[in-house]
Amino acid sequence: MRLGVRLITGLIVGISLLTFLFARYEVRAEKEALRHDLFTRVDAIGQSLQQSAEPLLLAHLGRRLQIAINELKTRQDLYGVAIFNADGKPLLVTPSLDGQLDVAPVVVSEAVGQNKSLPQTLNWHGSPMMIYAAPLHGHGEEGVIGALAIFADMQYIEAQKSEIWRQVVTHVLLQVLVIVAITLLIVRWTIIRPMARTAQYLRALRTGKSSPRPPEFRDNDNLFRPLAQEVSHLTKSLNAARASAAEEARLREAGESIWTAERLRVQVQNRLKDSALFVVSNREPYTHVRRGKSWEAVVPASGLVTALEPILCACNGTWIAHGSGDADRETVDEHDRLAVPPDEPQYTLRRVWLSKQEEAGYYFGFANEGLWPLCHIAHTRPTFRAEDWACYQEVNAKFAEAVLREMEGTVDPALLVQDYHFALLPRLVKEKRPDARVAIFWHIPWPNPEAFRICPWERELLDGLLGADLIGFHIQAHCNNFLETIDKALECRIEWDSFAVNRHHHLTVVKPFPISVACNGNGAEGAVEAKASASLYLERASLLKQHGVEAAFMGIGVERVDYTKGILERFLALERFFDKYPEYRGRFTFVQVAAPSRTRIRRYQDLCDEIHRRAEEINWKFESGKWKPIVLLERHHSHEEIASYYRCADLCLVTSLHDGMNLVAKEFVAAREDDRGVLILSGFTGAARELRDALLVNPYDIEQMAEAIRYALEMDSAEREARMARMRRAVRENNIYRWAADLIAELSDIRIEKSVATGIE
Ligand code: G6P
Repeated sequence: MRLGVRLITGLIVGISLLTFLFARYEVRAEKEALRHDLFTRVDAIGQSLQQSAEPLLLAHLGRRLQIAINELKTRQDLYGVAIFNADGKPLLVTPSLDGQLDVAPVVVSEAVGQNKSLPQTLNWHGSPMMIYAAPLHGHGEEGVIGALAIFADMQYIEAQKSEIWRQVVTHVLLQVLVIVAITLLIVRWTIIRPMARTAQYLRALRTGKSSPRPPEFRDNDNLFRPLAQEVSHLTKSLNAARASAAEEARLREAGESIWTAERLRVQVQNRLKDSALFVVSNREPYTHVRRGKSWEAVVPASGLVTALEPILCACNGTWIAHGSGDADRETVDEHDRLAVPPDEPQYTLRRVWLSKQEEAGYYFGFANEGLWPLCHIAHTRPTFRAEDWACYQEVNAKFAEAVLREMEGTVDPALLVQDYHFALLPRLVKEKRPDARVAIFWHIPWPNPEAFRICPWERELLDGLLGADLIGFHIQAHCNNFLETIDKALECRIEWDSFAVNRHHHLTVVKPFPISVACNGNGAEGAVEAKASASLYLERASLLKQHGVEAAFMGIGVERVDYTKGILERFLALERFFDKYPEYRGRFTFVQVAAPSRTRIRRYQDLCDEIHRRAEEINWKFESGKWKPIVLLERHHSHEEIASYYRCADLCLVTSLHDGMNLVAKEFVAAREDDRGVLILSGFTGAARELRDALLVNPYDIEQMAEAIRYALEMDSAEREARMARMRRAVRENNIYRWAADLIAELSDIRIEKSVATGIE
């Protein structure tokens, strides 16, 4: 209220002051104009009187002159007229001036002295008066023989002035009234109302009595945009904190020890204490992409961000990654850093820039045409080129340099390197910073020693990796493969009982950490309450309708277009299924989300084309009316978009030919809060080790996969729910927070060999 009173008082004072100054100026100008007008009039009268008075005065015709001035007084709107001799003695005056002219006004003697007409304004017996004096001349040498004076009353000018002031005051009052009324209305509608709604919303949010609707601010309302953003952040933070507190309480109550983001945060702080934490990955957690004249921060669809972000937020760490967005350079400071998440900065993202040539050699070439097929063994020949290897070395060195610069001034830093893009990084960092605890997590499979031997730079890669104190894989089998590869390729001692490699007095522990998704007590984080099956049915129908399809059952597959994912094998299985079970034609549709990936590589382009062609062929073979067997969505989809497909699909197909873990399988399980939906899962995925209740298939066995689809669609609900419930428990217990917590715990337990660090044996 006080704000309103201050606003209105300010307005009144401001408007009044301005109007007053303006009125003063106007009154002055008006007064000046009237005075000038009066003078012009009196001057004209004076000149004509001068001409008629001079001969009469010379002829001593005083009586006629008296008559003339009397007449002039009555004809004109004048106060009086007087004739003086050269000494200023009054000779003749109009009756109005009788007894008032004992002494001539100063202006008369001045007019005589200067021999010219002059005006004077003065207060004449209580009234404002203009006196106009003009000299009267004799013959030739006689010069000035007297003067005439015309007295003009100026009272009407004063009256006019008062009238202007009166009008101004009235206007000011009216304006103030109107402006105050309009201001009050505007303030009420645009400030008080939204404020009151915001307050009401925040109160409801605080008390948690109902789930309030957030206040709406117009998009273009700059005044409230910062407030709206803050309210939205506050809501998110409060809801997250409440959900996490509720979850913690629920878990304590149930005696469960499930990992949550909050528990991970506490653990990271306890374990790392004052050690600065650094993460390196090729993909950055936030990419800035241009949108017209502005840009937008995009979170790439990567489980890595979900996994690592809580760790970095907990200890205000630094994430070093390749700046690949087209607006990335515009959003960093002079040290190539920026604070993220953009909405609520909690850690630092340090971007490393790569030239097109570096990216081509290191990322597309060595990492994705060499190591990726080498480790997956999915019948795509790895390509190793010397120039790609040179780029890979250069880029690893470039990242190492960036890491070392970021580590400057830190004591006992901890480094988490991610993936096959940085096999050389652990050694490069450890050589310069032996006090750092270094871990690398290999997100893809590790093949058997015979397969890995294909790589011409096998020993260099292994040596780089063994610079780390800890190497993580998804499953034990990959750890075993790795140790066997080391055993065959390098001179070192392998401690099989503790799964560690001892090389040049440095110990590297090798352990499995099965990566996962953010599934805690009630499913995927942020997931909505389990929907009733009827509403899921409607949601499914509406999803299919968006693609012009009607079907009673829906399957889902979500992949980057990659030859390791077995998408073509899956299509073959679908074709076989519709051939074998025609009763499902018109009733079951499979939606394949196929996000284009690494499209600069020929093999990936060809695969995109082939998947498109095969889907069209199968659709052409079976489609009828408003139904088709495959809906192929060839673009990147957000987590939210995919979540609705997961929630209402009858089955999910994951048919990778080989996969380190496969998070789609776990995301599908995490999304099924209704305990429905069947997962058909390739046995060649890391996930198959944990999700034993999926229908496990061999993706090369088309017949088996077709049978699995039929079995999934016909599975009775009790079995379906029991399987899903068990899988959900597995994912819940081994969620992403546990993965991160185990990794951090293992890393912080590592004993840094001070003798190596200091050079003392
Ligand atoms: C694999 C890798 C990840 C990578 C993902 C996407 O899962 O292990 O590290 O983020 O593929 O690949 P991209 O090349 O697009 O980063």
